[in-house]
Amino acid sequence: MKTFYGDLKLGILGGGQLGRMLIQQAINYNVTVKVLDPDREAPCKKLCDEFVVGSLSDYETVYNFGKKVDMLTIEIEKVNVEAMEQLEKEGVLVYPQSRIIRLIQDKGLQKQFFKENGIPTADFKIISSPEELKESNFPFPYIQKLRRDGYDGRGVYKVVNESYLDKAFIEPSLIERLIDFEKEIAVIVARNENGEVKTFPMVEMEFNPEVNLVEFLIQPSTLPFEVHQEAENIAKKIAETLKIVGILAVEMFLDKNGKILVNELAPRPHNSGHQSIEGNVVSQFEQHLRAIFNQPLGDTACLNNAIMVNVLGEAGYEGPAIYKGIEKILKCAGVYVHLYGKALTKPFRKMGHVTIVDADREKAIEKAKYVQKTLKVIS
Ligand SMILES: Nc1ncnc2c1ncn2[C@@H]1O[C@H](COP(=O)(O)OP(=O)(O)OP(=O)(O)O)[C@@H](O)[C@H]1O
Ligand SMILES: [Mg+2]
Repeated sequence: MKTFYGDLKLGILGGGQLGRMLIQQAINYNVTVKVLDPDREAPCKKLCDEFVVGSLSDYETVYNFGKKVDMLTIEIEKVNVEAMEQLEKEGVLVYPQSRIIRLIQDKGLQKQFFKENGIPTADFKIISSPEELKESNFPFPYIQKLRRDGYDGRGVYKVVNESYLDKAFIEPSLIERLIDFEKEIAVIVARNENGEVKTFPMVEMEFNPEVNLVEFLIQPSTLPFEVHQEAENIAKKIAETLKIVGILAVEMFLDKNGKILVNELAPRPHNSGHQSIEGNVVSQFEQHLRAIFNQPLGDTACLNNAIMVNVLGEAGYEGPAIYKGIEKILKCAGVYVHLYGKALTKPFRKMGHVTIVDADREKAIEKAKYVQKTLKVIS
């Protein structure tokens, strides 16, 4: 019998920062890790037992990679799911399961899943052609989303009135009610093969409106207890309905009437859980490993006030990255820098994140603002 801390080989599809942080935890458990990524300079390339350069969307590449491992996981959803299905049939442990990746790759199927299972979500309609969109009679304003391959806000388009239809996506999409939200919130939930389910405390996210990326994340959230409880219950219900093995990030909106609506799911470590590395008893990365190895799930309690600031490439700079101001922020207590090992910066590229931990919430916020204005990625 292979043990996860011994001779079991774990394959990760995707070699970006999420894979990198997963490896950091895997090292503590003696896990043997193999990574597949198309970029030969991917953040994981130097950190794993074997790094394979190849396409994540090509059947043969993913299948051949998967045949050489005992267990396969992902750090990105855009992978060849047919190869994962075949690997599953041939006895490779695929977590999250391929049927869940298939569901989540398609925002249309995801929304249908919410509707069929009584998960609250914004009203929507599936659209298959530009003609159908023009004739939809869906009340303006609304949001159009590509069914497939959208990420970091690309693939999301706001349709304010009829005149916006000229620039709308022509690919299969869904349209949904524009939510006038109070806050964007997220809960990360984990489930193991034994059926144990645990949530991380809910977090609030602040987005950069210019580029639609999470800019700031604060834990614990000061929203009312009932909101925490409901958000965590919704996340649990989704994990149990899906019977997922691994972690699942549930992105939600809290609307102006205090109602929670689920936006979308990500069956992998997520940007909204990075603060858990220093801010919680276990991190999202450790929890994912515990879940896929069918070990007891860890305590997710917050240890302290923790703020996560994304470090994005500064606008106007492209080339080898220079981290200006890093020596200044390292003078502050409770400031943890995570760089992602990306040699080249470009505008708004996720280059790293910084977590600020402080027993005093106001001080944590003050430091986070200082970090944000002091640390710049230029070239
Ligand atoms: N129905 C909606 N009403 C209002 N704002 C929305 C709606 N849907 C999406 N948004 C805004 O657009 C952002 C991106 O949407 P979504 O999460 O669906 O796309 P994405 O490309 O998968 O994003 P990411 O990869 O960053 O998670 C949301 O975080 C939210 O700020
Ligand atoms: Mg999103």
